[in-house]
This record gives sequence, structure tokens and C-alpha cells, in this order.
Amino acid sequence: MTNYLRKIAGTRFRLRNIIRRYIAPPSPITPSYMNYFMRRPLTFGIWFNLRRFKHKILRIPRRYLDTVPLVGDDHVTENVLPYNESLVWKISRNRTERLLSVLGTIGGIDKNNSKVLCIGPRNEAEVLLMSLYGFDLRKISAIDLFSYSPLIDIMDMHEMNFQDNQFDVLYSSYVLRYSNDIRLACSESVRVTKPNGLIAVAFVHSPTTKPQVGTQLSGGLKEMFHYFGDNVGHIFWQEELLTESGQMVCTSIFSVSK
Ligand SMILES: C[S@@+](CC[C@H](N)C(=O)[O-])C[C@H]1O[C@@H](n2cnc3c(N)ncnc32)[C@H](O)[C@@H]1O
Repeated sequence: MTNYLRKIAGTRFRLRNIIRRYIAPPSPITPSYMNYFMRRPLTFGIWFNLRRFKHKILRIPRRYLDTVPLVGDDHVTENVLPYNESLVWKISRNRTERLLSVLGTIGGIDKNNSKVLCIGPRNEAEVLLMSLYGFDLRKISAIDLFSYSPLIDIMDMHEMNFQDNQFDVLYSSYVLRYSNDIRLACSESVRVTKPNGLIAVAFVHSPTTKPQVGTQLSGGLKEMFHYFGDNVGHIFWQEELLTESGQMVCTSIFSVSK
């Protein structure tokens, strides 16, 4: 009897258990109250800018904006890098959150335990949003051609310093078209992703205008899948959306077959 009462008092009626079970049950889609609060534009903006300020003051890493040492490809150093560095503080939350929302609905994805690689976040916003969408910040690696943050390593997506089969999820949003060697960028992405791991990718192309820098990829998803070749496993999600401005927004989430 005493044991029974203890059990009831100890487990069933603990406030935390009651909240988890009846008030805020864990869900792959609905955020926790804390994450919901932090996703609000005001709180997110404060968080992002305080971190930005902290990195500037503390100089982590030592130089405020470190950039990739000369990479072999002139196109990267002469076009891609200066163009993107000039936009370092730009945040495009809509597209990030859209892709993250879809990613969160894929069956079987264990966000808490997934090792994630974010290619080309530009600043911390995308990485912080990933954590607010349920991924563990400590298990997210991010790479870009420049960085002001310890969360983002400086690396070229065509030549990554990661071992094979490292990541459960590879996330690349609006990055692929900066490559002049998309086949290489795709094969590097496949190399570092685990077999059956997920690749979430987004890019935009305009049938009428050429990109300011990088590759056209005007064949949309069909062309992109061609570059990934036999490594495209199951396609969980694909969408080509023609916007009012005449641009085609392409997104896909697929598993890697090896
Ligand atoms: C348009 S921004 C995308 C920012 C963010 N992912 C988004 O969706 O808003 C493209 C980013 O990709 C990075 N990038 C371009 N080429 C790269 C490369 N070869 N290796 C790593 N990052 C690259 C750029 O420096 C830039 O930060």
C-alpha cells in the first residue's frame, strides 16, 4: 500500500509528468512553449543580435569575420564569397522555416539524436532556427565560406573535412546554385551523409534571368536529381513552385542510397 502511494505520488502526479502528458504532450510538429516563445520575431531577433554582439565583443573566433583561405576555384573566391559576405546579416526565415517544418514531418526522423550538417547558413539564424525546430544544437555542424561564429566552421562544400557517412541529415538551402561544379558538390554531400540519411535541399531559379553568381540549374529538380544520380533513394518531398515574380522555387527532401 505504501509502495503504491509512493508510486502514485512519485510518478503519476509529478507536475512535470502532468504537463508532459496532458498539457504539452511531446509532438514532432508542435513546438514546446519555450521554442514557440523563442521563435517569435522579437525574441528571436534579440537572441540572434545578442549572440552577434557577443561574438563581436569577445572576438570568437579571433577575427570577427574569418573567411575561407584561397580555395582552388576562382569563381568561389572572386564571385561567391564577396557577394555573400556583403549580405552576411540577411535572414530569410520564411524559406528556412518552411523546409524545416516539412523535414520535421518526415516519419522516422529522430530530431533529438540526429547529427545534422547545415551547408551555407550565412549567419547563425538558420542554425538557431534548427535548434528551435527540435534539432539538438550540440549535434548540428554548419559550414560556410566565412564565419563570425563558433557554430559555423569555414569550409568549402566541394571539399569537406568530414569523414564519410557522418550525418543523418544534410541541409542545404539556397546554396547549390553558387557552385560551378554541382556534380562535385552533390557527390561530397552524398559522401558525408549516412546511407538512408536525409538530404533537404532548396534552391530557386528563374527561367528568364541568369543568376548573379553561380550556375543556372534551370532544369529544376530534375536536373538536380540527375547530378545526385543513383544516390537518390526515396523522395519524401518535392515541390516546384512558380512565384508571382516568375521564379521557380525548388525544394526536396530525399534519402541517400549508397
Ligand atoms: C543565399 S545564402 C543562403 C543562406 C541560407 N542558407 C538561406 O537559405 O537563407 C548562400 C550561402 O552559401 C554559402 N556558400 C556558397 N558557396 C559555398 C561553398 N562552396 N561552400 C560553402 N558555403 C557556400 C554562401 O557563402 C552563403 O552564405
